[in-house]
Amino acid sequence: MIRVRAGIDGVPVYGAGRRGSVDDPVNQGFAQLASNESPFTPLPSVSDAIARAAAGVNRYPDIDGMVLRARLADAHGVEEDQIVLGCGSIEVCHQAVTISAGPGTEVVYAWPTFPEYTAITALAGARARRVPLAGARHDVVAMAKAVTEETRVVFVCNPNNPTGTALTGAELAYLLDAIPSWCLVVVDEAYAEFADAPEFGSALELLTAHENVLVLRTFSKAYGLAGLRVGYGVTSVEVASLLRLAKIPFSVGNVALAAAVASIDAGSELVARMATIKAERDRVANQLVGLGWDIPSSQANFLWIPASEARADAVARRCAESKVLIRQYPDGLRITIGTEEENGRLLDALGSPDDLPPTNVTVTATSLATRAESSPLDQ
Ligand SMILES: Cc1ncc(COP(=O)(O)O)c(C=O)c1O
Repeated sequence: MIRVRAGIDGVPVYGAGRRGSVDDPVNQGFAQLASNESPFTPLPSVSDAIARAAAGVNRYPDIDGMVLRARLADAHGVEEDQIVLGCGSIEVCHQAVTISAGPGTEVVYAWPTFPEYTAITALAGARARRVPLAGARHDVVAMAKAVTEETRVVFVCNPNNPTGTALTGAELAYLLDAIPSWCLVVVDEAYAEFADAPEFGSALELLTAHENVLVLRTFSKAYGLAGLRVGYGVTSVEVASLLRLAKIPFSVGNVALAAAVASIDAGSELVARMATIKAERDRVANQLVGLGWDIPSSQANFLWIPASEARADAVARRCAESKVLIRQYPDGLRITIGTEEENGRLLDALGSPDDLPPTNVTVTATSLATRAESSPLDQ
């Protein structure tokens, strides 16, 4: 057996959402609502760009991804040197922790949230400090209080995966003001394109005042390129140059770069698709509430149903029998919004909570936070 670094065996394995079939996941008749993907296949213009780029894959990609970075800088009104790319935004999460945290330091994040923060923190040998959500939402006062001299990174997932809840601009501003400027704050906005509440605030608007803030965005969700792996961060020039030290060289391939640029070109068509998802999200949420489900309001492309493990298991099974795959957690269920047809199948499969066999434990949106710390998500 090889000798490994202390703590490596405690790193949790990433649990991907269930798929209909590994060989042919799209055509097996499953509604794939377990991985927060886009239900839309690529636009013709994006497919054309992918095909053109594929013809040149004998060459390495541009190591700096300059064309894409220039387009993103233009879109966000920042300098190209403020943009960092990654093999999905998940790579930029790794870069953030790699440059800042290590043994003897802490990483602060809410719980439950995107479970990969736990793995990245453990890989760095740092300690995780989890701050329970308050009623499925970030508790910004508790998060600010959790920051100590040892804290190197604070992750803020906004909107939060898996609960879908979002911070208001005022809450986010409070949190960023409260965290010392020597601590890197990663505001993970993987789902921000789906946030349409007027009070939602993106950290992009607060970057000028906070050089220690890194905002993450991705082409995987609203832009429908999850399979190609391209995401990015926007931050100060100083932080960006440090993050680039931790970037895996050539981690974003030329097909991914070309598809991302083509997606920016197809902005209005993709914005229309996002609007369709948001309308479906609100329709499904209203129907679920009408059926008697207790769900927090979502600003993402998924909904969260707090439930005890036994109840979540019963519901996930019922859905799987109807070929609807959803994501099961110890504290509830996360359902990605699919096409209108898929969402209809989901609603039929879910039915009313009154139809379920009785279980001893009931978890409501407001009781979720009290259970959060004692029931780690394993997927
Ligand atoms: C909150 C959050 N951040 C980041 C990611 C990673 O996305 P990607 O690496 O595909 O950009 C995900 C994926 O599910 C996510 O839910």
